[in-house]
Amino acid sequence: MFEHYPSPVIFAHRGDLTYAPENTLPSFQQALQKGADGVELDAKLTADGQVIVIHDMTVDRTTTGKGRVASFKLDDIRKLDAGKWFDEKFNGTKVPMLAEVFELVGKDKLINIELTNYSTPRDGLVLKVCELIKRHNIQKQILFSSFLPSNLKIAAQALPEIPRGLLAMPGLVGLWARSFGFMFGEYQALHPHISSTSREQVQRVHRLNRRVHVWTANSPEEVNRLKEWGVDGIFTDDPQTAVRALGRSR
Ligand code: G3P
Repeated sequence: MFEHYPSPVIFAHRGDLTYAPENTLPSFQQALQKGADGVELDAKLTADGQVIVIHDMTVDRTTTGKGRVASFKLDDIRKLDAGKWFDEKFNGTKVPMLAEVFELVGKDKLINIELTNYSTPRDGLVLKVCELIKRHNIQKQILFSSFLPSNLKIAAQALPEIPRGLLAMPGLVGLWARSFGFMFGEYQALHPHISSTSREQVQRVHRLNRRVHVWTANSPEEVNRLKEWGVDGIFTDDPQTAVRALGRSR
């Protein structure tokens, strides 16, 4: 699927993160209007098993509510405001359902779904996400990622045609994921932190015939350095800056 997109492909990290409340519909819409090739989002389950999009384990930082995401039923989390904390002009913005993001993104942009059930790894999130993808027939636009190899294994069984990227933490903590964990797992991409990315690392991954998608590059210098090293994808908090740095229109 990546052959239909420019290289490096630009993913807007949680949407237009710098200019809109992260992981919301306005944020994703803005990012695509600014020329991102796709959006990155964080999928989680509500207490009643609905797939929603929110980064943290709690709603405290990005909504008007308090408490663990996994303790909210869909109707209750939808009553919270997920835009106000960022700017009054986003008042009334809700925590989105994954299905709403699918509708918004349409049929030609990419979606990197990070499977983020890190505090509830056996909650069935992955299969629910796969069901939704099938229902929306959006397989060709999806890239999965997770820090949890078990999530990517379940995804591989349910929807083997969808590429999977293993996320690696920066520094020593992410060393195993960037080396043996990645090499011996069935992944199509490595998602390393920018501080743990080097030209040699990119070459090593390419020798395995796999891709490198780096998080997160925000300045024109970072974006161009990664392009020069040959990375295949970039996550950015500022898609417009990345698009311009790469000399694409807008
Ligand atoms: O996918 C890149 C990045 O989003 C991983 O870290 O914490 O932003 O989900 P985080």
